[in-house]
Amino acid sequence: MVQLDFANIHSDRVGPDRGVEWERELAAATPRLEEARQALLARQNDPAAMLGWVRLPEADIGPIAEFARANAWVRDVLVLGIGGSSLGAKALAAALGGLGVRLHFADNVEPEPVAALLASLDPRVTLVNVISKSGTTAETMAVFLLTLDWLRQSLDEEWRRHVVVTTDPEKGVLRPFAEKHDLATFSVPPDVGGRFSVFSPVGLLPLAFAGVDISGLLAGAKRANGSAAGEIGENLPAQTALAQYLAWRKGQHISVLMPYSSRLALLPAWFVQLHAESLGKAYDRSGSRVHVGPTPLGAVGATDQHSQVQLFREGPFDKLIVFVRHRQADHDLVLPAEKGLEELSYLFGKSLFELLSAEAAATAHALAVARRPNYTIYLDRVDAYHLGWLLQHLMWQTAYLGELFDVNAFDQPGVELGKRYTYALMGRPGYEELAAELRKAGVEA
Ligand code: PA5
Repeated sequence: MVQLDFANIHSDRVGPDRGVEWERELAAATPRLEEARQALLARQNDPAAMLGWVRLPEADIGPIAEFARANAWVRDVLVLGIGGSSLGAKALAAALGGLGVRLHFADNVEPEPVAALLASLDPRVTLVNVISKSGTTAETMAVFLLTLDWLRQSLDEEWRRHVVVTTDPEKGVLRPFAEKHDLATFSVPPDVGGRFSVFSPVGLLPLAFAGVDISGLLAGAKRANGSAAGEIGENLPAQTALAQYLAWRKGQHISVLMPYSSRLALLPAWFVQLHAESLGKAYDRSGSRVHVGPTPLGAVGATDQHSQVQLFREGPFDKLIVFVRHRQADHDLVLPAEKGLEELSYLFGKSLFELLSAEAAATAHALAVARRPNYTIYLDRVDAYHLGWLLQHLMWQTAYLGELFDVNAFDQPGVELGKRYTYALMGRPGYEELAAELRKAGVEA
């Protein structure tokens, strides 16, 4: 199960200026949320709406599982991708991997880490999964060029067996390159944007190699789909979207995601991209300037209780904090007694999970006492099913928030100019005018 506890966003806990009368607000917003639900469901099959991620849990994962099985020689998978082409698999592999081959992510172009990573791998047992929907992303392509050279140096013509390409079925340079060299390929459906692609081959292929239960992930994602399509009273994504939206309207412009789990330490990075690129928009859908978007921020409990929680509790009243907790540990550890350390006797005989749970409950309440709104998403456990549900829930939440803010949650116009300036600085043909503009402004690489 995935369940919500909204007690700490209530006015009676955090005050009327920061909190909400949840039942009243939910009832008042239900017609609007219902309209959003109908609009999203109606647009589901329109390729231009970019809602193809909703159908991903129904897709046939046979070819992915088969490819992983058929390549039992692989010891390491090197994933080349950035943003939506890497963050989902990275977060889920950190949470659920470890049983299969080792995954490595090259998602930046700083030379030293790239060189160190290649030096640490044996090309004879490494599969390179280059992932770029557009097939044009400079960072991914740059590391791919280096990696091809690295493979060829050791493997000569055999290199082809060591590359699998995940890209658009038609567009971009990777598809013809793969065809020319007869490389294995997987497709990112055209109506699935990068940050919504974790349950396409973008995320599932590396995760299958890592031994993650990919059908469990999709089963959980289906549950989120069921909830998101249901009546508003039972619709968890519509409800968390409303909680986020009301918080924004009350001046809580920072949306913190704080899982109480080291296994989920990389989940906030995925969430940050999802919310930031989807909701941070200058214009609404009618073209009016709005400059909206909660600033997503990540934290990890209990670790960040000794860091960011100071700010969350005493700093500006500009945050909504969302905890992710699990109800059961897979393997708990009981704390032994120790003579000479009787001061710690309150811990003796208790378990680490009890302590973790107490820390989460204590922090949520301590924030509420300081009139800081927060709510908790409970998972029964940290497993593929519940994480599939959670990630799909958060994607739906984003889609509902797009409706509430009335912005297109599926484009990212704000990142384009920086990319084009980079091309200009790197001397890409066709960007001469921009290069001249940069020279005039005194900008150089
Ligand atoms: O969400 C998005 O669309 C982006 O973050 C992309 O995933 C990112 O820019 C990488 O794009 P591509 O897969 O085309 O290389």
